[in-house]
Amino acid sequence: MPYTLTPHPILQAPMAGGATTPELVAAVSNAGGLGSLAGVMLSPEKLREEIRKIRTLTDRPFSVNLFVLKPVAVAQAELEAAMERLQPIRAELGLPPGKAPVKFSEDFEAQLEVLLEEKPPVVSFHFDLLPARQVERLHQAGCKVIGTATHVAEAMAWQEAGADYLCAQGAEAGGHRGTFIGPFEHAMTGILALLPQVVEAVKIPVIAAGGIMDGRGIAAALLLGASAVQMGTAFLTCPEAGIHPLFKQALLQTKGDPTVVTRTFSGRPARALRNAFIERMQPYEAQVPPYPIQNALTAEIRQAAAKAGRLEFMSLWAGQAACLCRSLPAALLVETLVQETHEALYRLEGALHA
Ligand SMILES: Cc1cc2nc3c(=O)[nH]c(=O)nc-3n(C[C@H](O)[C@H](O)[C@H](O)COP(=O)(O)O)c2cc1C
Repeated sequence: MPYTLTPHPILQAPMAGGATTPELVAAVSNAGGLGSLAGVMLSPEKLREEIRKIRTLTDRPFSVNLFVLKPVAVAQAELEAAMERLQPIRAELGLPPGKAPVKFSEDFEAQLEVLLEEKPPVVSFHFDLLPARQVERLHQAGCKVIGTATHVAEAMAWQEAGADYLCAQGAEAGGHRGTFIGPFEHAMTGILALLPQVVEAVKIPVIAAGGIMDGRGIAAALLLGASAVQMGTAFLTCPEAGIHPLFKQALLQTKGDPTVVTRTFSGRPARALRNAFIERMQPYEAQVPPYPIQNALTAEIRQAAAKAGRLEFMSLWAGQAACLCRSLPAALLVETLVQETHEALYRLEGALHA
């Protein structure tokens, strides 16, 4: 199935935590890709403001992403135990003993209403399935809908719910696992194996995500039946990306694959560069309360660590091919990716006729 959202079949992944600034989103869209704003951590007011800012920077299509979140409850004893476990790290950062957060996350329903009012051309969802009636409301507002899946049953569920595009997230991907049917350990299929399965199972166009860093990866994904690719880590080292300079530096110095999938930061499995926080919290991996509770409990630690330049306590979400990061302005990165894809496909043609 064709991909018709933008001239180039390249989506810059939504990346929560400040990476996807309006400047990054607009630069990618202006270069002919699809820039995506991560909305999950933004209050409804801030979400509206950033969407409007993007509109001042580009008249091209762009996308806004949310996590589909359902209310969760936690027992007081579990909450206290979780706060207690974080205490030594808080102390090391000079933070006072933690207090229970006033709220664990932004209000998903209120964020969704902002999307329905602001009507970004494309909206995408992570973490869970949006009910068909909500997909229909977004369609009526004129938005195209992308759903994230990590295996075939999830892909079919999104198709059934009415999604226009499916983002297949391979195990290599940086950030949170999108798994919502079954345990995440059963959905750790690499993109090379996952993509053809999903492409065969659904009729809607499939966007490949996970470990794609250059034109070789894009060409491979297109040959496996993807209609487009979604790249996250590759855009983290663009000057427009809003991550900590030390995180950028760490990505550019990465060798091999120093990533690990961990629940310790947020309560939901996510791939990150291994650091001291993960190693010290590893023994409690199974006890950590679910997202968004643990995420809220570690928020002050992550902020204080960023302020103090303590990389060892920041959440450094990144994919398995982070060592291929380059420091290029977003527009030049998109242009380079397109050029490299042409070259990769040309080389393939040559190999066939050698
Ligand atoms: C720093 C970071 C933050 C992310 N945050 C989000 C997010 O807010 N929403 C989302 O749908 N995906 C998020 N992802 C996952 C991406 O959509 C995508 O699956 C992933 O970046 C693809 O793998 P790659 O990083 O190897 O390119 C994030 C990824 C990274 C690296």
